[in-house]
Amino acid sequence: MSAEQPRPAGSPSGRGARPSVAVLGVGTMGEAVLAGVLRSGWSPDDVVAVVRRDERAAELADAHGVRSVPLAEGAARDVLVVAVKPQQLDDLLAQAAPHVRAGALVVSVAAGVTTARLAAALPEGVAVVRAMPNTPALVGSGVTAVSAGPGAGEEQVALVAEMLSGAGDVVHLPESQQDAATAVSGSGPAYVLHVLEALVEAGVHAGLPRATAARLATGTLAGTAALLQETGEHPSLLRERVTSPGGTTAAGLRQLDERGVRAALLAAVEAARARAGELA
Ligand SMILES: NC(=O)c1ccc[n+]([C@@H]2O[C@H](COP(=O)([O-])OP(=O)(O)OC[C@H]3O[C@@H](n4cnc5c(N)ncnc54)[C@H](OP(=O)(O)O)[C@@H]3O)[C@@H](O)[C@H]2O)c1
Repeated sequence: MSAEQPRPAGSPSGRGARPSVAVLGVGTMGEAVLAGVLRSGWSPDDVVAVVRRDERAAELADAHGVRSVPLAEGAARDVLVVAVKPQQLDDLLAQAAPHVRAGALVVSVAAGVTTARLAAALPEGVAVVRAMPNTPALVGSGVTAVSAGPGAGEEQVALVAEMLSGAGDVVHLPESQQDAATAVSGSGPAYVLHVLEALVEAGVHAGLPRATAARLATGTLAGTAALLQETGEHPSLLRERVTSPGGTTAAGLRQLDERGVRAALLAAVEAARARAGELA
């Protein structure tokens, strides 16, 4: 297999050809990112996968039209997206490092792994960016928290934002805030699903068929998020607007307050942030 000549990484589109991309480790999140990069406008010819099973390579070729290549070839690309489990990372980087060229950009989505640790495992002159996507990225509606690490300037961060925009929204923050972002948006889908499950169950208790309750609750969640995003208004204002004095919503909200839903969410995010710090 002939490796393509690497182009300099770090140049967002509009200034010539797009940098070539390799996704190293294509499981759930790797595939979400790969699909996002294609949605952002990269051609399947400019994106390769590095996998370790032939059937996975065949699945990715069928689903996305991308080729799988050996690690040595993938690691020589302009931009490497590392999407293996944190415990698989050291092995992968040790195998990839001899093939990574100076000037390459490495984007890691591994939870809790610092850019300092990544940079230490890579050759000099490689730029490192840390990204924390979440599961709605699977359908292009995720939010990814992105932090620049050693060697990564504005241009590299802009390139990562452009690549990941096809997986949803991209938020820039300092690496010191990554654990907090993990606790809010990384773990957030689980909190929201937990609340949604309860809302569906409550609908069933109130006499609705389960499918109807699920449709009403899910549509309400999606619609409320869309309303919030489109109006750009503060959640308190939108909530006040649907809370008539002495009405049904006021009666329901009083129960949420009495039972400490707000306090429970504050505690959940704090516990997740602390756990992210311990795991790192
Ligand atoms: N899932 C999430 O919600 C989420 C959110 C944010 C960040 N992340 C991060 O995303 C990363 C991946 O998580 P995941 O949930 O996508 O896990 P996953 O589904 O297990 O994916 C990991 C993939 O890496 C592959 N792999 C491992 N070592 C490899 C190697 N040496 N060469 C090639 N492929 C290799 C595995 O291949 P096999 O299939 O052959 O084992 C698997 O397909 C983690 O670091 C996690 O912290 C995940």
